[in-house]
Amino acid sequence: VSQPGPLMVNGFDGSGLSGLPAETQQLIARREAALGGAYRLFYERPVEFVRGSGVYLYDPDGVAYLDAYNNVPSVGHSHPRVTEAVSRQLATLNTHTRYLTDGVVGYAERLLATHTTGPAHAMFTCTGSEANDLALRIARSCTGRTGVIVTENAYHGVTAAVAELSPSLGANVPLGVHVRTVPAPAPGSDFAAGVAAAIEDLRRHGLGLSAFLADSLFSSDGVLPDPAGFLTPVADLVHAAGGLYIADEVQSGFGRTGSRMWGYQRHAGLTPDIVTMGKPMGNGLPIAAMIARQSVLEEFGRTARYFNTFGGNPVCVAAAAAVLDVIADEGLQANSLETGGYLKGEITRLAADSPVLAGVRGAGLYLGVDVVSAGTGEPSAGLAAAIVNGMRDRHVLISATGPRGHVLKVRPPLPFARPHADQFLEALSAVLATCYSGRGLLAFRC
Ligand SMILES: Cc1ncc(COP(=O)(O)O)c(C=O)c1O
Repeated sequence: VSQPGPLMVNGFDGSGLSGLPAETQQLIARREAALGGAYRLFYERPVEFVRGSGVYLYDPDGVAYLDAYNNVPSVGHSHPRVTEAVSRQLATLNTHTRYLTDGVVGYAERLLATHTTGPAHAMFTCTGSEANDLALRIARSCTGRTGVIVTENAYHGVTAAVAELSPSLGANVPLGVHVRTVPAPAPGSDFAAGVAAAIEDLRRHGLGLSAFLADSLFSSDGVLPDPAGFLTPVADLVHAAGGLYIADEVQSGFGRTGSRMWGYQRHAGLTPDIVTMGKPMGNGLPIAAMIARQSVLEEFGRTARYFNTFGGNPVCVAAAAAVLDVIADEGLQANSLETGGYLKGEITRLAADSPVLAGVRGAGLYLGVDVVSAGTGEPSAGLAAAIVNGMRDRHVLISATGPRGHVLKVRPPLPFARPHADQFLEALSAVLATCYSGRGLLAFRC
């Protein structure tokens, strides 16, 4: 087994294979034989799971792993209310959006009411990629132009059209000729100036701006949420150039940032023209969505036809409705703010005593922690990987992100509470102590 690890941060490269139980090695071999080669497993020593509950995943021996990584099972793994809603609906009716069903209309009304875009309409897809793909078609139809601006290490999905505007897929996946990348927001840099230059470049090449598309938390660029408000002048620039602002909320939506339901709402005065959503929307069922302001969608709605076979089907809508119920009834957005704030504060304290942890950023339960080499202070993907694998060996799941792969990515399901945060912090302290002591680096493998 040998996989090209550098193509994905925290990707399994085969090096830890011999340390795995024989059954796991056999499953990996069968997987290699059966699945396409572009798939990647996580970790030096991949993990198999057979069950999930709340914020824990369980391996075949019943060992519990604390999930501090997965945002799709956002209201908790196997949440009984989601399971019940889906099972009931599946046993009753599962059709599509060409028949009248009450569920999809009621859900669209509820979803739209959570947004602050002004009057808008919803359209349902199965994945975030499809939602972005549709958003792009609508933006081009509405503006009559093709240029798109994204950040330098953005990820927006897997369709041919959105892979062309996902530079984080790597140099082997070409960007479209209509795509311009801008440096990700960084302290002290002028993000809006980069966007202004890209708008001008698109104009000079005769393409013009159709849309600026950004993940409201800049997850794949290294988790860059601050300072709240910095996206508002960017939206103004985009609008002044006749383009549309598309907020990709696939990562940052559904209460994840704690203070607001949607990441873009952290930026006062920012009114996106289109918002795309996915991942946590159905707690694991394939449902995603795009909402667009009425005026933006008008022309597309009149001139095009859209049918997504599984998009917005009653079973997935039942899951999505249950997710909204659970977020409200269990106070998960407030928990994200509270526990996320606590976790950020405690990791910041750990970082103050550790020469290998630098900046700690985040909003709610979405944190990024820079890992640097103790001697030089330079970003260290190797050390970040060692910490990620060290946490995995202590049964805590995280990963890494960012263009240089040196940012720890901490993004647990939203019921992650203070005791879980304490369990996480204990593991992180132990890992840091193993890989670094006051006298220096002990091992690159923590
Ligand atoms: C910001 C962002 N947009 C879009 C997508 C694509 O979503 P999906 O995998 O559901 O197609 C992702 C997936 O990771 C994402 O992180």
